[in-house]
Formats: sequence, structure tokens, C-alpha cells
Amino acid sequence: MVRSFSNAIARAARSAKGQRTPREERMSSIEKVEFYRHALQEADVEEVRRVLGTLFLTTGPVTKRFEEKFAAYLGRSHAVGTTSCTASLFLSLAALGIGPGDEVIVPAQTFIASANVIVHAGATPVLVDVEPDTALIDPARVAAAITPRTKAVIPVHLYGQMADMRALHDLCAPRGIALIEDAAHGPEARRDGVAPGELGTTASFSFYATKTLTCGEGGAVATDDPALDERLRKLRSHGMSKNAADRYTARYQHWDMELLGYKANLPDVLAALLVHQIDRIDAQRDRREAICQRYEAAFAELPGVDYPKIVEGSRSARHLFTIWVPADHRDEALVDLQERGIGVAVNYRAIHLLTYYRDLLGFERGAFPNAESIGDRTISLPLYPGLTDPEVDRVIEAVRAVSERWR
Ligand SMILES: Cc1ncc(COP(=O)(O)O)c(C=O)c1O
Repeated sequence: MVRSFSNAIARAARSAKGQRTPREERMSSIEKVEFYRHALQEADVEEVRRVLGTLFLTTGPVTKRFEEKFAAYLGRSHAVGTTSCTASLFLSLAALGIGPGDEVIVPAQTFIASANVIVHAGATPVLVDVEPDTALIDPARVAAAITPRTKAVIPVHLYGQMADMRALHDLCAPRGIALIEDAAHGPEARRDGVAPGELGTTASFSFYATKTLTCGEGGAVATDDPALDERLRKLRSHGMSKNAADRYTARYQHWDMELLGYKANLPDVLAALLVHQIDRIDAQRDRREAICQRYEAAFAELPGVDYPKIVEGSRSARHLFTIWVPADHRDEALVDLQERGIGVAVNYRAIHLLTYYRDLLGFERGAFPNAESIGDRTISLPLYPGLTDPEVDRVIEAVRAVSERWR
């Protein structure tokens, strides 16, 4: 503690004098392959400029245009623009009246948001393990976790590959259990001819900074149920009976508050960044697919390097490419890759081992072995349409060099 503090002071002093450590010197001489670069284009920026020139910056005609275009892309009847995927998942639970006394099943291998929304709703998260080769929620384990209090399952389409929605639908529909899909990782995903939101009660999407469609922060929730659509629209705007566009753009109209809602509406100025990205969504997925295939071909031969499998009949959105390396080498491999100028991330460590969920649910290591093993071994590599072939080569070379550690 004292030592790292004095190291930090020494570093600050060196940096004030413009000096670098040998390690900093080495890293600065390597051009970095960023973990993520967005693919916004002039048409997107131009649309934002256009909106900035109008009176109406919040939820209005551009959000509506985006919602219609996004719903059409998914083949859904409705999409509601929100502030995040987290908000979309939470609003789905609220719209279905899920709360205290109810149980919601969620995988232990996911981003914390998938479980946090259940706690925020006052319901009980029931964690289940994932399949070892895909990291997706395991329908057999879901079946074993169902109790008379189960009101919903949140399948997470991790890395961009859809969970087995046909199996989950067969399990949940006859029991009246809702399927609230966490599709943060990919509107582009399809599996067994099914799109997100097609068999689910709702599907929630993220337009966070690193997602395949992005406006920095934003989200949407899609459904085929018109009554649910109406309820979600009210819930994202305090429960008001009229939205801002209705209230101000024509003649002022009184509004009523019909239910207790939240503040989670996607504004026009952000929808403007999204609306043209949908035209490029499949071409950009194709580029990511080509990159993933190069990664997979290179890593298939590498001892101690594995990666999640894409199952037959599945088209992954290819949002994240993660490798799974030996657990006892993962953290040093993270450092090593970064020193070689490769941007990395960890998606994700198993949630039941994080302090809050450990305290809340009382699980120890060993509770969900597949989620833990994946969480201990995973490293996400750069994946985005603007990644060049030479950059892909550099990532592959760096992983190959780092794998010398355990070969
Ligand atoms: C699987 C998953 N679910 C939900 C979220 C939450 O998305 P947002 O940041 O839009 O709330 C994320 C974000 O990274 C995610 O990866």
C-alpha cells in the first residue's frame, strides 16, 4: 500500500518532468489496436446537426422514425426507445407487474445489469449455470430452477449469439412464465429462424458506447404485444398519458398520470445518431463475421486457447470475440496483451462471486462451475467493422506470442 503510493508519487513526478518509465516508453512506441472504435459516419452526424437546428431535442419524430425502422429490422410490431438496455429490462419487469415475492431466473455468466434490474424491481434473482461451450443460459438448468414463484426468465444473448429461445419458449409459455430477452449484444442475432423478441415477451437492446449500434448511451425494448407496447411507452415517461410531442408540438393538451412510471425516454438528438446506422447494420455484421472467422481459424490450432462455439442454425451478431485461456494465466495474459498494444476487456466474471451478489445470495465458488470457469478464463479481443486486416494479424500474433506462457 505504502509502496504503491510512493510509486504513484514517483510516477507523477516523472510525468510532471515529462519522463517515462521504460515500460511506458515501450508501450508508447507501439501503435495501439483499440479494443473498440465506433463506426459513425457523416450521415449520422449530419442527422444530429439537423435535429439540433429544430426546436425539439427530446423524444419526438426522429425517435419515432428510429423506433419504426428498428422494429422493422427485427420483424417486430413495436420498439420503444429508452435510455439504456438496463432501463428496457427494468421497464419490462415493471410492465409485467413483477416485484416482491416473485422469482426471476437469470444466468450467472452475464453483465451485472441483467440481474440488477431484478433486485431493483424487488423480485428475487435465481441464478442458473450456463452451457460450457456457448456460455448461454442452459434450458435444462432453467427447467430445474422453476418454482411456483417463477414469473420470468431473462435469457442473455451473450457475445451476440441467441440463447435457445425455442427450448425456453416450450418450457415457459405453457407455465405462463415471461421471457424477457437481454439482447444487449445484438439485434443482428437470429437462431433457428427466430429473431430477438419473436418468442420472448420483450427483447431489450443497448446502444451503449461499444455496442454494434451506438449513440453513446441508449436502448430500446421490442415486443409484438400492443398492450405491452403502450404500457412500456407510459412507463418510460413517468406514466403520463401523453408524450412531449403530443403535449407541445400542436395545441397544448392536458395529460393524466395513469400509473407510476420512470424517466427513461430516448431523445431525438440521440435517435438521430442511430437512425441511419440501421442501413449499415448487416454489412457491419458481415465484416465482424469475417474477422471472427480469421480469429477462429488462427486460434483453433493454438494449445490452451478456446472460444465459444456458434451452434448449428445460429447467426451470431458477433458483438464480442472472447478467447478462453488457462485460468491461472488469464490475468498475466491481459497485461501482456496490453503491453503488446492490444486493447482487451473481460466479459464477464461470474456475477455470484462479485461482492454484492455474494453478500445477497450467499453463493461460494463451485456454485455455478461453468459460469465461473468461463469468467476465470475469458479475454475479449478487438472486434469492430473498422478493424483492419493488418490489425487483425497483430492481434493474432500477440495472442500466439502470449500463449507461449502455457504451451
Ligand atoms: C448483457 C448485457 N446486458 C445489459 C447491458 C446493459 O446495457 P446498457 O448499458 O445499455 O444499460 C449490457 C451492457 O453492456 C450487457 O452487456
